[in-house]
Amino acid sequence: MRTLLQLSIIIPTYCEAQNLTQLIPRIGQTLIDSALSAEIIIVDDHSPDGTPDVCQTLSESFPVRLITRKNERGLSTAVIAGLDAASAEILLVMDADLSHPPEKIPELYAALKNQHADFVIGSRYVNGGSTEETWGWFRKLNSRIATWLARPFTKVKDPMAGFFAISRHNFLKARDLLNPVGYKIGLELLVKCRCRNIVEVPIHFADRTLGTSKLSFTEQWNYLKHLKRLFDFKYRNYAYFIQFAVIGLSGVVVNLLALSLLLHWLDRSVAIAVAIWVSMSTNFLLNRNITFSYARDAPILKQYFHYSGSCLTGALCNWATTIALCNSFAYFEKRTMLAALIGILMGMAFNFILCRYLVFAKHKPTGDELKTE
Ligand code: GDD
Ligand code: MN
Repeated sequence: MRTLLQLSIIIPTYCEAQNLTQLIPRIGQTLIDSALSAEIIIVDDHSPDGTPDVCQTLSESFPVRLITRKNERGLSTAVIAGLDAASAEILLVMDADLSHPPEKIPELYAALKNQHADFVIGSRYVNGGSTEETWGWFRKLNSRIATWLARPFTKVKDPMAGFFAISRHNFLKARDLLNPVGYKIGLELLVKCRCRNIVEVPIHFADRTLGTSKLSFTEQWNYLKHLKRLFDFKYRNYAYFIQFAVIGLSGVVVNLLALSLLLHWLDRSVAIAVAIWVSMSTNFLLNRNITFSYARDAPILKQYFHYSGSCLTGALCNWATTIALCNSFAYFEKRTMLAALIGILMGMAFNFILCRYLVFAKHKPTGDELKTE
């Protein structure tokens, strides 16, 4: 039977023992003041700073439960583990470093419960919200750029927030689709639960005073990777096509650069052929690693062979379209360039379809791979 708790509070931690001794009593007091029944789930990645002892002591006075992950690290997956383990109908996530004011928990809870919101954010960027004065221009700019990059996915003011609440129902809608990399699990849930009614509750985001931030350059890079995954998720074939086309254009630059170099050493006709081969190969690698990165597990040589075939087919399609237009329509007789442009687009579309559904078809795991999963 499910517990009758009203709220599960999930707190991911890595080396936050000192902060927990301050945060948990503040949460405890808030729960008493607002008469909320809750559990507090701390998901720790095996911190070497005595977190288990601190949690043990705290659990004597507060409803604290510790989950220790020994073989995995990462903020987003820690949060998912906590959400999976939670037992209440309303789930709330917050940082351990006192950046998020626990006194705002009842307001987030009420917004979900009484305003029937699908998703509630403790937001720095709505009226009444703020960040610490001490934030330097670089950190502010960083945060603004990251927020702006999330615009194609959501119009909320603070999609970067790590302080949010969601109903179990909405979490479960997104659960099997989750595939986050890095820090932004809030954004991941927001997009994948297809939440519509999103409420932002203003908060003051305080600077941590104890311990250190785990936000590194790698995490910023991960954020870009995460955005690309969301882009593919939300826009599907449009997203793949845009990436395919941009890489195709970059191939023009590679081709011309390679040609200008090769002409120093090779005969012109050979140099042209080699330059085409070089740009086709760089395009292959870029498409394999970026556009169709989901198919990276498949054998590369086989893909390369198929890709070459698909480019050739695209080129034939381009050639045939251009010739057919010029020969069959009086309009195109004197407009060879326009016919060529249409030929290029047709060839590219054909090539794209072959790449998407044949060359880089989703890799189906073999029997052996399935066994080892
Ligand atoms: N379990 C686990 N594993 N927890 C982690 C890990 C990890 O690998 N990395 C970080 N955490 C925990 C921290 O202990 C802290 O409780 C919380 O996640 C946030 O980490 P910080 O290192 O304090 O991140 P931040 O202050 O740079 O980023 C915060 O602000 C962003 C908005 O500016 C986070 O709240 C983000 O979620 C938020 O989006
Ligand atoms: Mn922090």
